[in-house]
Amino acid sequence: MKAAVVDRPGGVPEIREVPDPQAHDGEVLVTVAAVAVENVDRAIVAGTHYTAAEFQSALPAIPCFDGIGHLPDGTTVGFGGLRPPRGALAEHVVVPVAHTVPIPDGIEPPTAAALSSAITAMTMRTAGGLTAGETVLIQGATGVAGRLAVQVARLLGAGRVVATGRDPAALKEVGADAVINTAVDDEQVVRAFRENAGERYDVVLDYLWGRPTELLARALVPDSFALPKPTRLVQIGESAGPDIRLTADALRTSGLEIYGAARNAATGMATAYQQVVEWVLTGALTIPIVTMPLRSIAEAWTRTDLRGRRLVIVPG
Ligand SMILES: NC(=O)c1ccc[n+]([C@@H]2O[C@H](COP(=O)([O-])OP(=O)(O)OC[C@H]3O[C@@H](n4cnc5c(N)ncnc54)[C@H](OP(=O)(O)O)[C@@H]3O)[C@@H](O)[C@H]2O)c1
Repeated sequence: MKAAVVDRPGGVPEIREVPDPQAHDGEVLVTVAAVAVENVDRAIVAGTHYTAAEFQSALPAIPCFDGIGHLPDGTTVGFGGLRPPRGALAEHVVVPVAHTVPIPDGIEPPTAAALSSAITAMTMRTAGGLTAGETVLIQGATGVAGRLAVQVARLLGAGRVVATGRDPAALKEVGADAVINTAVDDEQVVRAFRENAGERYDVVLDYLWGRPTELLARALVPDSFALPKPTRLVQIGESAGPDIRLTADALRTSGLEIYGAARNAATGMATAYQQVVEWVLTGALTIPIVTMPLRSIAEAWTRTDLRGRRLVIVPG
């Protein structure tokens, strides 16, 4: 079968003939129908993700660990749990039966492959406890996940949605009530965070970490002794950097509460998934995708013009 293979850390995947995978007891052969390529996949190939060691030690290897495909009986499933060197960017994969879930009728494989970005935005409720009417700040709203998060915040009944990004043209497209350009000097960014907070930011969905989150923490510190209301920050990505400098007063006096996106995932994500599926089926939520065939993986992997659209690799 054909598969996209990476030879070296940070390499671009290339199409090769590789042996067909064989299903053993408890496993099933899946014909791959769609695979979303996300930052996490690129970071694993580059060796910069915290889980990258397994992939790097298995090189040459096939990237991406989940996707959508068809079982031998024609059922469309989501599959996951692939272990290097075997990955999803191939014509077929073999996975444990337990690592497959049926995809609801009416959702095409490319859209199904990109659902995870919308599902993770639901952590503003599962981890951040968002309730209707509250103000949401999306840090990194110009990316694929951030744009979906703006839509999800609206659908969850947020009272006000504030979005940050570095590209004013892209910020205009995201559909927020207020936008903050973070590509200006630190003092201007801090001032903009304060001016756009209204009463306060109730929930922050943070795809960035790094400088923008450091400046947000600074902006939340009150000027005088006051009992701050909580701002629940959900940490979900690190596009702007893996660490921040957090001053003591930013935690002591700002009301800032920091949660990982995995908080309450075990109890909340199944419902979150159902909700996102319903929104997609009714057209309330649209997931912008760009599809490219597996044979064009080298070109697809190096594209830089996607602007908020998720790359999905399909057969061909
Ligand atoms: N399934 C998911 O989608 C998912 C789930 C969990 C976590 N995440 C994480 O969430 C983050 C965003 O994912 P994505 O798929 O939306 O990526 P993306 O489409 O590539 O968007 C990246 C976002 O980060 C911003 N950004 C990049 N570098 C920056 C910097 N140095 N300073 C400030 N902003 C910067 C971009 O802003 P510009 O437009 O200004 O470049 C854009 O808003 C990643 O860390 C990803 O791993 C994603």
